[in-house]
Amino acid sequence: MRLDKFLCHATGLSRSRAQGVIRGGQVQVDGEPVRNPATAIAADAQVVFRDTPVGLTGKRYFMLHKPQGVVCATEDAQHRTVLDLMPDELPRGLHVAGRLDADTTGLVLISDDGDWTHRISSPKRDCAKVYRVSLAEPLDEDVATRFAEGILLRNEDKPTRPAQLQVLSPTEVLLSLHEGRYHQVKRMFAAVGNRVIALHRQQIGALQLDPALAAGEYRALSDDEVALF
Ligand code: URA
Repeated sequence: MRLDKFLCHATGLSRSRAQGVIRGGQVQVDGEPVRNPATAIAADAQVVFRDTPVGLTGKRYFMLHKPQGVVCATEDAQHRTVLDLMPDELPRGLHVAGRLDADTTGLVLISDDGDWTHRISSPKRDCAKVYRVSLAEPLDEDVATRFAEGILLRNEDKPTRPAQLQVLSPTEVLLSLHEGRYHQVKRMFAAVGNRVIALHRQQIGALQLDPALAAGEYRALSDDEVALF
């Protein structure tokens, strides 16, 4: 198949746009930049567009380091979304697995594979999310026990699932949650008389945020990382 046709199918780019990005040197085939859109590529060729592997059959999987001030939505009339941080061509069909608040930073997983994102966000799957939390007040001694037992949040009648708290300093903790209720971390600390001043998700299941990614950057996941969920 011609490279430009392959790229159109794999990314959703128009034929003329695909030819433009190929001529511009943004596409590599088997590790080498290829600038001729008519180049015939082998069925098993590894095609990379802007550092992201693209394929015909494949679904796409990314991790993104969410900065403050962007929202985890596919579209938003007022705010920049996490998909706005990706090149125009990539977001087609992509969605976010589990939302973070606009002021929360950290690990966001993005894909066009609905079954995969469902496995990450469904409470039934018990995929733990680990948050680094900065608190306004020093932590009370009994909070780890109360979170481990489950606490009742305001306006709810079911206690939270047992959550694990690791104390890093009197005002800095790691909290591991096994469900994702609305503003859950902030509401849990409000329920014990404290206040969250900064929140960062650093891990989902066994997958850590890649420390090489600065806020606002993303990368494709490896096959092994995809297989974690
Ligand atoms: N809990 C919160 O309160 N906010 C988030 O963004 C994620 C978990």
